[in-house]
Amino acid sequence: MAFRTAAVRLAARTTPRAPLLPAISKRFASAAATQTQSHIPTQTKDQIKRDAGLPNPDPAADSASVALVGEHAPYMVATYSRPPPVFVKGEGSYLWDIENRKYLDFTAGIAVNSLGHCDPEFSKLIAQQAKTLVHASNLYYNPWTGALSKLLVEKTLASGAMHDASAVFICNSGSEANEAGIKFARKVGKVLDPSGNKTEIVSFRNAFHGRTMGSLSATPNPKYQAPFAPMVPGFRVGEYNNIEAINELVTERTCGVMVEPIQGEGGVQVASEEFLVALGKRCREVGAVLHYDEIQCGLGRTGKLWAHADLPVEAHPDILTTAKALGNGFPIGATIVNAKVAEKIKIGDHGTTFGGNPLACRLAHYIVGRLAEKELQEGVVAKGEVFKKGFEALRSKYPELISEVRGKGLILGLQLTRDPTEIVKAARERGLLVITAGTNTLRFVPSLLVTEGEIEQGLEILDRAIEATVGV
Ligand SMILES: Cc1ncc(COP(=O)(O)O)c(C=O)c1O
Repeated sequence: MAFRTAAVRLAARTTPRAPLLPAISKRFASAAATQTQSHIPTQTKDQIKRDAGLPNPDPAADSASVALVGEHAPYMVATYSRPPPVFVKGEGSYLWDIENRKYLDFTAGIAVNSLGHCDPEFSKLIAQQAKTLVHASNLYYNPWTGALSKLLVEKTLASGAMHDASAVFICNSGSEANEAGIKFARKVGKVLDPSGNKTEIVSFRNAFHGRTMGSLSATPNPKYQAPFAPMVPGFRVGEYNNIEAINELVTERTCGVMVEPIQGEGGVQVASEEFLVALGKRCREVGAVLHYDEIQCGLGRTGKLWAHADLPVEAHPDILTTAKALGNGFPIGATIVNAKVAEKIKIGDHGTTFGGNPLACRLAHYIVGRLAEKELQEGVVAKGEVFKKGFEALRSKYPELISEVRGKGLILGLQLTRDPTEIVKAARERGLLVITAGTNTLRFVPSLLVTEGEIEQGLEILDRAIEATVGV
């Protein structure tokens, strides 16, 4: 309990309402108390000298953070390699760790917290709805699953994207939204060709569609697939942006084609308009459904409600999946379909226990309303330009390191000529969180409400981080 008091006191310095910490053992309590009292852990002289020059040096070996992780990590299946800071609080574009270090967050929980951390209205709605109704199951109607579905369709139609959006299946995550998309495509294939020959799903190299077996089968990355092989049968892989290969790839056997208009995990690679138009055309020719995965690039991130909004109608999808920003951190996903798909899905074909619960849907209803605002979207475009200008300046300064600037709005990538791990660490230790993608790409997916001042501050930190690692 001694630590709990100390940590709460620490957090209270930056917030009027202290975050609650889980119960912590005596071992952690004493490490934390030592840390908070002396602030001088047992470091080497070199370490102390280095740390003195850094605003946020990664927590030392005998810090409260390392003690807490040491206590908890053995109980967590080791699916992620995480840096040492332990985050306890977020507000807007900032995160604070357990040792009260403040970080400018250009990751937004991997393109999730588009309204920033703990948007006040969002937090208020969580509390309100939590006191009203959290879950009653999909066996019954509630006011919010339908309201969210209606709003998603209306805002999609009004945005100029997916002109024939008509109905929505709501679930809990991106993978699950894609899983529904895959099943819906298979069902359409079965209805169009009852012989069972129309079952192939096409996806593209460097795509990321999720970790469940169906979405993983459409994610042709050996690192993710190999340990879990064999994959679901019937998946084919094509080359992103290769128009010539489309006719051979998408055939009468194809029931669905999955594609990210901007590949996020794949390194912020943008699909060309010609490629998506050709893909759409070929899908209509062979009776395959076109499925856009906008889980990372959608919901305002490109400065339009959907990343494909500027494409001509022939490139519009039959299935559109979303998640991430849809809940601003609260788990939710959605599969939006047109009538050609919806009419082939029958009662009992698909389902979910938690998906569409009134709490998640009420929050997403508020979030979609905010993310569809024209002013917010115009802001995204303007802020994207500030980033790009800064990136070009960095590219001129470090031509050997930065080979390309990619992306749109606030989904941006800096292609580096070497492994960015050291830069990510150096940025973190200077108070900036960034993530990687693809092969040696630095990825920037901040809150869509990030300010120009914060962007400039972040770019300055990035510059210092690169400077510190040149030659590493
Ligand atoms: C484009 C895309 N699709 C699907 C997913 C999977 O979403 P989730 O992690 O919510 O299952 C992700 C996650 O990064 C994604 O970026």
